[in-house]
Amino acid sequence: MRVIDTIAEMQQQADQWRRDGVRIGFVPTMGFFHEGHLALMRHAGTLADKVVISIFVNPTQFGPNEDFESYPRDMDRDLAMARGVGVDVVFAPSVEEMYPEGFQTYVTVEEVTRPLCGASRPGHFRGVATVVAKLFHIVKPHVAVFGEKDYQQLLTIRRMVRDLAMDVQVVGHPIVREEDGLAMSSRNTYLCEEERREALLLSRSLEEAQRLVGKGERNGEAILAHVRRVLGAGPRVRIDYAELRDAETLGTVETLSRPALLALAAYVGKARLIDNTVLKP
Ligand code: PAJ
Repeated sequence: MRVIDTIAEMQQQADQWRRDGVRIGFVPTMGFFHEGHLALMRHAGTLADKVVISIFVNPTQFGPNEDFESYPRDMDRDLAMARGVGVDVVFAPSVEEMYPEGFQTYVTVEEVTRPLCGASRPGHFRGVATVVAKLFHIVKPHVAVFGEKDYQQLLTIRRMVRDLAMDVQVVGHPIVREEDGLAMSSRNTYLCEEERREALLLSRSLEEAQRLVGKGERNGEAILAHVRRVLGAGPRVRIDYAELRDAETLGTVETLSRPALLALAAYVGKARLIDNTVLKP
């Protein structure tokens, strides 16, 4: 496994592979791996000849009062885990390499980034779209894999790729969960024992919503009221949003007549956690 930290070297490697007819798979990450990240890497391995991952905690997608500085980092552990799943190249640039002095070009995806996390985290998706566009120009992948855990991010990248005619196939991967249902996240490390127990209410509330829909409930407000009730059982849980949105456009949904995204963001202690599920009538 090769570790590359400059854009020029990464582009040379990508060009060499492309000349040799090698299909490049890519998984962008911010590191501090868990089984969810590894599942994306393994999946990329089934779709391509070589797998590149990036490890870069991207400052432009964090707000001024967010956890950029304290975001968990452990490069040695990440490299060992990446090696373990057969990654070929780790691209791990510095902030100066990605954002040199004078940097002033950003990618803005409009409608799909407005609700949900886009409303709670102004500028977040502009940072994500910009860094992913830049990473695509550096790694030159044929296919890139993104998790459905960050559902709005996946839609944003799909929209960007279509709108800017980027020659990359975007593949989504289902949410990987702990045995008890909690969606895996690097931010779960922020949770103390009691918070970890209450964090389970997020996935629990989504399961409950699925159950209601299975029994025939189609009223959005009724589903959301139940979700809020379940989350309300945790004194350490503070809901940021709980919303039902069209699964493709993220437009508002009042009655479940097509697949709808049930998306949650909640603070549990100081950790801001997200989870989602698609409800199908
Ligand atoms: P990060 O949070 O490290 O996530 C990297 C990839 O792993 C994303 O595609 C994310 O959706 C996926 N992922 C995280 N937890 C998952 C889980 N439990 N199940 C399935 N997939 C999961 O997302 C980012 O980094 C950044 O925004 C990035 C795209 C790298 C741009 O900086």
